[in-house]
Amino acid sequence: MRTIEWRDGTVVTIDQTRLPHETVFLKMRNCREVAEAIKTMKIRGAPLLGAAAAFALALVAYHSKAERKGELLGELGSAAEILKSTRPTAVNLFWAIDRILDKARSFSGNTRDLAAFVVEEAQRIADEDAAANRLIGRHGAELIHDGDVILTHCNAGALATVEYGTALGVIRAAWEQGKKIKVVATETRPKLQGAMLTAYELKRDGIPVTLITDSMVGYVMYKRLVSKVIVGADRIVRDAVINKIGTYTIAVLAKQHNIPFYVAAPKSTFDLTRSSEDVAIEERRPEEVTHIGPQRIAPKGVDVLNPAFDITPLEYVTAIICEDGVLHGEDFVKFKANL
Ligand code: MRU
Repeated sequence: MRTIEWRDGTVVTIDQTRLPHETVFLKMRNCREVAEAIKTMKIRGAPLLGAAAAFALALVAYHSKAERKGELLGELGSAAEILKSTRPTAVNLFWAIDRILDKARSFSGNTRDLAAFVVEEAQRIADEDAAANRLIGRHGAELIHDGDVILTHCNAGALATVEYGTALGVIRAAWEQGKKIKVVATETRPKLQGAMLTAYELKRDGIPVTLITDSMVGYVMYKRLVSKVIVGADRIVRDAVINKIGTYTIAVLAKQHNIPFYVAAPKSTFDLTRSSEDVAIEERRPEEVTHIGPQRIAPKGVDVLNPAFDITPLEYVTAIICEDGVLHGEDFVKFKANL
């Protein structure tokens, strides 16, 4: 199945906090349940956040008792506020909400037709993400060769998207083409998306994967144990890629060791009217750092910093792989200019 699906007035997804040990499906019936699942990271990953927010608005529209269009638009607006307050950094969430609200405001049919339109638009957003990931995979696979060992960070796989994945989509496509590749996955402290989700997805697909802790990246590059890096993105702004904390460190190390550093993301992750300084970097609970699972590892009362994302200036990025193709430096500059 897809990572997220609309089923007769409910939204079904996988609870990512329970993987890899058990596959538990979440059935959400209203916007607040979706917002809660996003806050608690049962649903996570930039493209999936976009699809989830879109389906949350679909739930509002589908179950609304509003008789007038203005009333339904008001309900959608209030739901949008709740959803936008869940997590600040991944732009896909805001992009999907604004796309639906903009189209709903200019919709000319009656209230019932508008409700149906919102559900269809949410489904379109999900379908487009699945299609974009396949294209990203196809374009990105051209960069991958027999013998490559690809380092990836966090989880930019099927679980972080509607289907197939972005960074893992490239790896999957190369593997499906028969290329002999291996993957090194970082565990991704503090939430361990690499250990829990990326290692799980790759193992399930039979793609060779070796798990390392984040602090081993310098060692594996120094020893030439990896030949390429591919990561996803939460937001690509004019001057930088914003992605899971630790990405910048990996990019700097990659440049130091002449290892190509690729970013795979759909255009719904592009936010090219903004610069990195305009973006709020989510700061999460200190317990994610002071504890591993339920176990406290740091002394009580210690000060903690816990930014969930970091900023990688574009000079460290070899190319951005999106559904339109592989954008090297100059192509990306042209892409920005043509907006
Ligand atoms: O905090 P998360 O798990 O939502 O962060 C996810 C990431 O940083 C991913 O690398 C990014 O969203 C790309 S997902 C295709």
